[in-house]
Amino acid sequence: MIPRAPAGRFRRTTGRYAAGPRLRLPAHRASSATLAGAYPFLAADRCDVGIPIGPDALTGTPFAFDPWALYRSDELTNPNVVLSGVIGQGKSSLAKSIAMRSVAAGRSVYVPGDPKGEWAVVAEAVGGTVLRLGGGGATRLNPLDVAGTADPHGPRTRLLAAVAALTLHRELGAPEQGCLDAALTLVESRTAAPTIADVLTALAAPDERAATIDGISVVDRQHDGRDLAHGLRRLVRGDLAGLFDGPSTTILRPDAPMVVLDLSGLGSDDDALALAMTCGSAWLEGALVASQAKRWVIYDEAWRLMRSVPLVRRMQAQWKLSRAYGIANLMILHRLSDLDAVGPVGSAARALADGLLADCSTRVIYRQEADQLAGNATALGLTHPERDLLPVLARGTGLWKMPRRSNVVHHVLHPAEVPIVDTDGAMREAPSPTRG
Ligand SMILES: Nc1ncnc2c1ncn2[C@@H]1O[C@H](COP(=O)(O)OP(=O)(O)OP(=O)(O)O)[C@@H](O)[C@H]1O
Ligand SMILES: [Mg+2]
Repeated sequence: MIPRAPAGRFRRTTGRYAAGPRLRLPAHRASSATLAGAYPFLAADRCDVGIPIGPDALTGTPFAFDPWALYRSDELTNPNVVLSGVIGQGKSSLAKSIAMRSVAAGRSVYVPGDPKGEWAVVAEAVGGTVLRLGGGGATRLNPLDVAGTADPHGPRTRLLAAVAALTLHRELGAPEQGCLDAALTLVESRTAAPTIADVLTALAAPDERAATIDGISVVDRQHDGRDLAHGLRRLVRGDLAGLFDGPSTTILRPDAPMVVLDLSGLGSDDDALALAMTCGSAWLEGALVASQAKRWVIYDEAWRLMRSVPLVRRMQAQWKLSRAYGIANLMILHRLSDLDAVGPVGSAARALADGLLADCSTRVIYRQEADQLAGNATALGLTHPERDLLPVLARGTGLWKMPRRSNVVHHVLHPAEVPIVDTDGAMREAPSPTRG
């Protein structure tokens, strides 16, 4: 504790305090990096608005988090969060606690793709909805359902272009964009509820009048659309047939507290995952457009999604809309170098992924491997003590880094949450059979 100076002993000289009482403390000299760890003098302010996370490991005070409140008070420049850490450190558990506690606080939660199938139990616990795609289930979603949007043509075109780019593994050319637009316009003139199967039919038999207006023959238009049709066909006759190629079998309650798109039935094919996620999230956005609730959108296992550039592009569009729609995105990675999977430094694709990270005002860092420390420190602007902390963080403890504060927080699980977040079950030994 700092000794208090006796009252009235300051000497006032030329209108300012020139000299105070001498403190009888031994002088201590250290670098500013070392002094940054001089607890408690430099410990961050309390962060106690929002859902509780657990105690601050340095001060013991409760740490709470609400990205919307922190954004309103100018602590954050956007409500998005990136959470990274090595395998099994409790990243998903933190995200699941945030989801369940946020629902209790009146927020809603949307998980647009759950490749491991570990979120259904969370949605069920809070009375939410689980949509299981693949694995022989009967759920079908029509990604062209964008009923709540004033002009559905734009979102539908973007979705179809993203799907075709995903299956073709390349960007679409201008003639292909023209084909897609003409085919969709034709289908929209015939039905209020178009499907991808309808678009495929229109690509094979283009509208003669529209082609003439565009100054192109029907034969050329058919030719321009050939690759596109091949790309979209995967959803109609390929391995994803039956999931997105007809009218939706589900109607979503706009007030559902939580919606999880369970993709674990699709297996480990990254392409199928990216396609299903693109179509499924487009459908969900259409279905939830009427909802006014502040919403978390959680991308668990985002490192897998990052391998698909069209999906990263869609995520970036979502990120940009987050403030307009009251959405906070939470992206979970193992390490920041997961972003390398999108493309080499300097490429357009990599710039997209870096942009996602830059647009996350809150960075929660769980334990990192030694080879990741320098990269993390540079990308996230960590101090030396913060950087040295990362390899020794215990399970469930993370560094919460925001533009003007940084806290080390231990996430405390409520006893009711423990069985819901448990992903270690298979690692434990089965109880030995009792001897009779
Ligand atoms: N704060 C915590 N306190 C105690 N146990 C925890 C805590 N957080 C997580 N765990 C336990 O650790 C295990 C692994 O957690 P979790 O699945 O969340 O890790 P993860 O980082 O998401 O792993 P992966 O990288 O494999 O997805 C779970 O069984 C969970 O019960
Ligand atoms: Mg996890």
